[in-house]
Amino acid sequence: MTDTVDAIFAKTKKGRLLFQDRNALSTEFVPDNLPFREAQTENVAEVLAPALLGSKPSNLLLYGKTGTGKTAVATLVIRKLLSQDDTRQILTAYVNCRLAGTEYLTLARISEALPMDKDKRIPLTGLSLSEVANRIFKTISKEKIHLILILDEIDYLVNTNDDTLYKFTRSGEDTAPGFLTIVGISNDLRFKERLNARVLSSLGEEEIVFPPYTTAELRSILTARAKIAFRLGVVPESTINLCAALAASEHGDARRAIDMLRVAGEVAEREGRQSVDEESIRKASDKIERDVVEKALPSLPLQAKIIIIATSKFLSGTNTGELYLAYTNLAKKSGVEVLTQRRVSGIIAELDVLGLIEAAVVSKGRKGRTKHIKLLVDNDTLGRVIGEDARLLDLI
Ligand SMILES: Nc1ncnc2c1ncn2[C@@H]1O[C@H](COP(=O)(O)OP(=O)(O)O)[C@@H](O)[C@H]1O
Ligand SMILES: [Mg+2]
Repeated sequence: MTDTVDAIFAKTKKGRLLFQDRNALSTEFVPDNLPFREAQTENVAEVLAPALLGSKPSNLLLYGKTGTGKTAVATLVIRKLLSQDDTRQILTAYVNCRLAGTEYLTLARISEALPMDKDKRIPLTGLSLSEVANRIFKTISKEKIHLILILDEIDYLVNTNDDTLYKFTRSGEDTAPGFLTIVGISNDLRFKERLNARVLSSLGEEEIVFPPYTTAELRSILTARAKIAFRLGVVPESTINLCAALAASEHGDARRAIDMLRVAGEVAEREGRQSVDEESIRKASDKIERDVVEKALPSLPLQAKIIIIATSKFLSGTNTGELYLAYTNLAKKSGVEVLTQRRVSGIIAELDVLGLIEAAVVSKGRKGRTKHIKLLVDNDTLGRVIGEDARLLDLI
């Protein structure tokens, strides 16, 4: 026992065998140039440039699927903008709306970036949304702040009403002589359709689209990153090729590619391999798939979990009608509201997008069409992850 512990520590002290700078593969790392994103980078820079002369830049919307470089481009341009700011009035704030959780907490995070008087600071609960917004506007006005506000995953801020967002996009009078420009980022291509027209017209003054990377582009991004992150010669070209191909299999996602390379490096080091070989990539890919499911399941709404449990009762899949019956029984048993078939179908479609359920349309001849629905999560994982939710224990 102690021998193994000693061996672990000795190995660590000797230094890492494959990694040279593991940090270069972390999600926060933004390289100094972003190949294949020159046009988008220049575009964002052009829109934000007026801030250097003290004028308010247009609001800006960046969108494209995950891992297409949106956050990296925004971060890089802001970094350069701040380094050239002679006015000393530019302030930037970055908030990820999904991680912040609620609209209120998003505003609280924004206020943390501002130099607020102690008595004006936003408590974590207790104020109305408009009071919080007003305190933010007043500070911007009083301190003549030129705020560039990056709202990442901004779609999480848009749910039932868009009032807060609307207020922020039209805050000109309240913030003068300071100003507030929003750089909104969304992974959801349909986000615009959900936006109220009046919000869209002021938020999307400028729009920049980020296409997925091609496999060749991912290869090149990975090669550059591997050079910084790993010791010379430990990542063969075949590894890079496989990693790029796997990451491009859904859509060209640089985050997935880089994550996979990092996990593969860890696997290879732990197993004492001499190089990050293709086998390590395959193991990393499997591990990441499992992690995605285990992360997605616990945070699902209760109704979605019940639908998943209902689906798990049909080992070889089922159809919409049968599943709805099973769902109804479980919902009654657990004492929650029984949703209409229409709402249940909507949730099934969302679970399909998340990759937890497969719902394929099949024709029933003259009887019309139905869906063949199958759970993609194995029962062990389901029992382990959903079983943690006390309300559902009896249903499984
Ligand atoms: N063109 C690029 N060159 C190098 N690295 C990139 C490039 N685009 C994205 N990345 C890296 O890929 C990862 C995901 O990018 P990110 O900007 O977070 O994607 P998004 O915000 O679109 O989901 C980050 O680690 C980022 O540094
Ligand atoms: Mg992002």
